[in-house]
Amino acid sequence: MRRELVLLGTRITIDHGLVDRLAEEIAHGAVAHRYAIVTDDTVGPLYLERATAALAGRVAVDGAGIVAATIPAGEHHKTREQWIAVSDRLLEAGCGRDTLVIALGGGVVGDLAGFVAATLVRGVPFVQIPTTLLAMVDASVGGKTGVDTPAGKNLIGAFHQPVRVLIDPETLRTLPPRELRAGFAEVVKHGVIADPDYFAQAAAAAPAVRRGLIEESDIGGLIAGSVSIKAGVVESDELEQGARRILNFGHTIAHAVEAVTGFRVLHGEAVAIGMMVEARIAERAGVAAAGLADEIAGVLAAAGLPVGLDRTISHGAILAATRSDKKARGGKVEYALPSRIGEMEPFDDRWSTPVEDRVVLDALAAG
Ligand SMILES: NC(=O)c1ccc[n+]([C@@H]2O[C@H](COP(=O)([O-])OP(=O)(O)OC[C@H]3O[C@@H](n4cnc5c(N)ncnc54)[C@H](O)[C@@H]3O)[C@@H](O)[C@H]2O)c1
Ligand SMILES: [Zn+2]
Repeated sequence: MRRELVLLGTRITIDHGLVDRLAEEIAHGAVAHRYAIVTDDTVGPLYLERATAALAGRVAVDGAGIVAATIPAGEHHKTREQWIAVSDRLLEAGCGRDTLVIALGGGVVGDLAGFVAATLVRGVPFVQIPTTLLAMVDASVGGKTGVDTPAGKNLIGAFHQPVRVLIDPETLRTLPPRELRAGFAEVVKHGVIADPDYFAQAAAAAPAVRRGLIEESDIGGLIAGSVSIKAGVVESDELEQGARRILNFGHTIAHAVEAVTGFRVLHGEAVAIGMMVEARIAERAGVAAAGLADEIAGVLAAAGLPVGLDRTISHGAILAATRSDKKARGGKVEYALPSRIGEMEPFDDRWSTPVEDRVVLDALAAG
């Protein structure tokens, strides 16, 4: 069932079989002379040939063509080194202003290829074809691109909106179940921050997601719901001056958990834990009524996501790590806190509430 949304001028399409219809889908508004497909060495063997075949009929023979650049899979390759490697590959292949970059993969490929597109000859258009649930509901929407550095994740980057986002839920069939569950954490987050009905829809899908059953979870409907929630938030605040901060729910603690565990937990798993701790912070800070954290925990656990910190992790280390997060400023660390399912605490339109360390430690201890 085809679904379409428009965000900041970008058309986002959700439909089965889009990879094989790539040429038709980009025929309007995203035509180029050269097509540079960026992927990783896990997704490439699965989908690159299909994407290339879908484009091949459209490409002129007079020197134009399709260039593929493959990076090694995994977050630790979302680096400036890979940005250099991909940029050089494209420049050597003659890619100039007439190029369309196509990101085919998860959030790592999307962020890196987007940053290549943002910077190549001062910016060329790009298309996102996200192939993980996380990238479909989150990373491919909003226009943030970039790479990691030794000082932290996503510290070098640019806002660069894709000209088109093509979401083909069929690609999720090959995604490892653990990655599917991790992406689902962001789905739950969207329900908590914006829409109680959508939260209920996510709750209903959780058991199927736990078992990796794409068909039984109405995944297309869930993706459309998540994309429209994220799109609505981003549209109201493209450059993250205020309201967009609600998307950070769960993420201050999640980033700390990722840092303290040396990224052994997946991002979505860290977000699940982070939402639990931050919902407890909201309860203890008097922002939410008691019971909110348990309600969220029920859905996360049903999807097979973690709802608590590993006992070996030091709470002091988590607290210290929150201080080095981009969102920390001045003395107190700020948190995007829900007041109830579907509603966030505005805190003077800052959408981010400063919280005392004592409250954070208390919430960590309650897990
Ligand atoms: N730009 C944004 O707004 C934004 C938002 C959220 C996350 N992100 C970024 O996204 C990244 C995480 O994205 P991710 O979770 O998609 O990770 P990922 O891109 O590393 O993908 C996870 C793994 O799944 C594999 N894979 C991808 N699609 C597959 C498929 N269909 N079948 C089989 N295997 C597949 C990948 O090769 C990889 O090994 C992080 O770097 C994060 O910072 C960006
Ligand atoms: Zn996230």
